[in-house]
Amino acid sequence: MTLVAPETEVTNDTGIQSFLVTFIIRRFDPELDSEPRWVDYDVELYSTDRVLDALHKIKWEVDGSLTFRRSCAHGICGSDAMRINGRNRLACKTLIKDLDISQPIYVEAIKGLPLEKDLVVDMEPFFASYRDVQPFLIANSKPEAGKERIQTIADREIFDDTTKCILCAACTSSCPVFWTDGQYFGPAAIVNAHRFIFDSRDDAGDVRLDILNDKEGVWRCRTTFNCTEACPRGIEVTKAIAEVKQAVLRGR
Ligand code: SF4
Ligand code: FES
Repeated sequence: MTLVAPETEVTNDTGIQSFLVTFIIRRFDPELDSEPRWVDYDVELYSTDRVLDALHKIKWEVDGSLTFRRSCAHGICGSDAMRINGRNRLACKTLIKDLDISQPIYVEAIKGLPLEKDLVVDMEPFFASYRDVQPFLIANSKPEAGKERIQTIADREIFDDTTKCILCAACTSSCPVFWTDGQYFGPAAIVNAHRFIFDSRDDAGDVRLDILNDKEGVWRCRTTFNCTEACPRGIEVTKAIAEVKQAVLRGR
């Protein structure tokens, strides 16, 4: 539990302790603003609340124009990645009690993708790279009639980690190479290529390795581990990139 300045504690009608937490949100309305601006909000929250609850409270009770994406609210859809106190996280998985609420909490859009409004970025460049690596099963033969494509437990284990990706872009938008070079495929695309390159049922691994053996492919990775630290699914992103690099070198 984080330190709380006493003056921020509030006792309400329910008797349950709540806290007044200051959020400083980087806002941008392309119809009104020439530059983004930081705006403060004081929000009454409970220790069980998440950053997403605070954003809802601001939107529903203070300023309906606050714009952000969210859908599932439970860490599955990947739509609410944002920078919270300078780190890429999912707002729905970031508990208030895990932040230092004696200080303001800074919230802004993820970096490296075009800012559309407030916390919303244009995800199209991110999904374009994802599509480029052909993230689907490509098999040259059909399975036996009425049968599944068989795979051993050991073969399935090889790419288990990279099946967990929810395409939130927290990794790619935390990568300094991606910030400086909009052409780099980025960690998420490589993770999703990995998921099929190492699938024993797939026959297009060499095609994907060719795509990633490019000046904007795996060799742009500088192994800074930002992606691994940012991933809300705990995927070992840097390890997956290293495995794809090795596969390029040895020809899978
Ligand atoms: S690898 Fe992790 S951080 Fe990157 S897009 Fe997938 S779930 Fe998000
Ligand atoms: S809202 Fe779906 S992952 Fe956070």
